[in-house]
Amino acid sequence: MARKRSEHTCVFGFGWGDEGKGKVVDLLCPAFDIVVRFNGGANAGHTVCVGSETFALHLLPTGVLHETAVGVIGPGVVVDPIALLAEIDALAVRSVDVADRLKISDRAHLVLDYHKIEDQLSERAAGAEGKIGTTARGIGPCYADKMRRTTAVRFADLLDDKELTLRVRRIVEAKKASFSAMYGEDGDLNAQTVLDKLAQAAERLRSNVCDTTRFLHEAIESGKSLLFEGANGILLDVDHGTYPYVTSSSTGPHGIGAGAGVPPQCVTRLIGVSKAYSTRVGSGPFVTELKDEIGERIRRQGREFGTTTGRPRRCGWFDAVTCRYTAQLSGATDLALLHLDTLTGLEEIGVCVAYRCDGQTLRTLPASVSRIERAEPIIEFLPGWREELRSVRQFEDLPKNTRDYVNRIEVLIGVPISIVGVGPDRSQTLVRGELRDVVQVPESSLA
Ligand code: GDP
Ligand code: IMO
Ligand code: MG
Repeated sequence: MARKRSEHTCVFGFGWGDEGKGKVVDLLCPAFDIVVRFNGGANAGHTVCVGSETFALHLLPTGVLHETAVGVIGPGVVVDPIALLAEIDALAVRSVDVADRLKISDRAHLVLDYHKIEDQLSERAAGAEGKIGTTARGIGPCYADKMRRTTAVRFADLLDDKELTLRVRRIVEAKKASFSAMYGEDGDLNAQTVLDKLAQAAERLRSNVCDTTRFLHEAIESGKSLLFEGANGILLDVDHGTYPYVTSSSTGPHGIGAGAGVPPQCVTRLIGVSKAYSTRVGSGPFVTELKDEIGERIRRQGREFGTTTGRPRRCGWFDAVTCRYTAQLSGATDLALLHLDTLTGLEEIGVCVAYRCDGQTLRTLPASVSRIERAEPIIEFLPGWREELRSVRQFEDLPKNTRDYVNRIEVLIGVPISIVGVGPDRSQTLVRGELRDVVQVPESSLA
């Protein structure tokens, strides 16, 4: 595939994660030199389907599947070093060698055993009603330690063995005391086990750890193109999402400044990704959720089971209220609307255009979770289609009702829909407008 120079771009989720960011990043990748993760950690699960092969990446930027791309894990990512090594090894077994093309920020924080244990203890203590439904990957506790500062470990700390040993021993003692006080058990923590894992990580990742901020600035100055790969989704953003049912990082393009050390104004193309319906895993409000046969059918047809945890995803109609909100927050220049094929066969398809709550009509997302939970969706129904879409390769060849559906969403959100997904494979993607100069969709997935 021909490589073209491209403006710095961010791909990010418009919803509660799992929108198909991996697929869009994979498609764009040949036009970029460097792919950068700037938020989240191993809570992410980004899927790429190439022919009969499926890859699910958690900590590595999806772009590393392209051997021309350098992958960067920025300072805003929280890295479980053992999970990262397992991911690198699993790819090597499949003949994808990333070790020489990966750079990890020396400012990035490490997710250690006690973070994962705390994630589980705190969810258990919150009970079925109060829990967030986290991925149990230690994300929240690690970001909390980062903000607390005195109990954090960064990659830069791995350079000084003596200081690191003292630091980890002190942190583990403090964690045991706080777990005992809060949860009635000390989590069976062992400082030496943590130190052994850190030593293993330091040994194997030493050559990958560097000042990625400087690396990215030099890359920008020398004319390289950067692709920023958001993890999670804007409705899970710690500031702007359905708090407290969110993750602990800044999940949209606004996270790039903090999470990659690159001035966000450098990044001029902002591609939000959404499904043609909504999904959510974990707890939290979901106004358009379908707890009926149609929701079940979407889950079955769309294979809506978590990439990281395998949990069934909750499914519902497309929500123009949340998507307008995320479009405004992010300043999205383009929208990728995926999974149109999953809706094939439905008589009619609902789109939520506003909420009804406490006698008022709401057109934007309220801050209060209990208010969102009380909201009823105002649904506009559009006619469905029966045709199979997976072999369609041009937008104009889609059935009229499918095109009308896409065009209606474009009008409701006010962002051009430049990418349309009609199947999981690389080749099952339709590109419209200017983006056609950047993205070349392979005719067959093996191209
Ligand atoms: P991410 O976390 O945003 O990268 O999304 P995930 O990989 O967790 O989940 C998206 C799922 O949808 C994956 O299984 C993709 O292979 C699949 N997918 C992406 N686009 C399409 C599409 O247009 N149609 C169908 N049927 N599946 C798609
Ligand atoms: P990708 O990048 C879907 C959800 C969890 C939970 C909440 C908090 O694959 O889209 P955490 O473990 O982050 O503390 O969990 O956020 N969540 C995701 N849901 N896709 C993700 O990532 C997610 N990352 C976090 O299910 O509700
Ligand atoms: Mg995912």
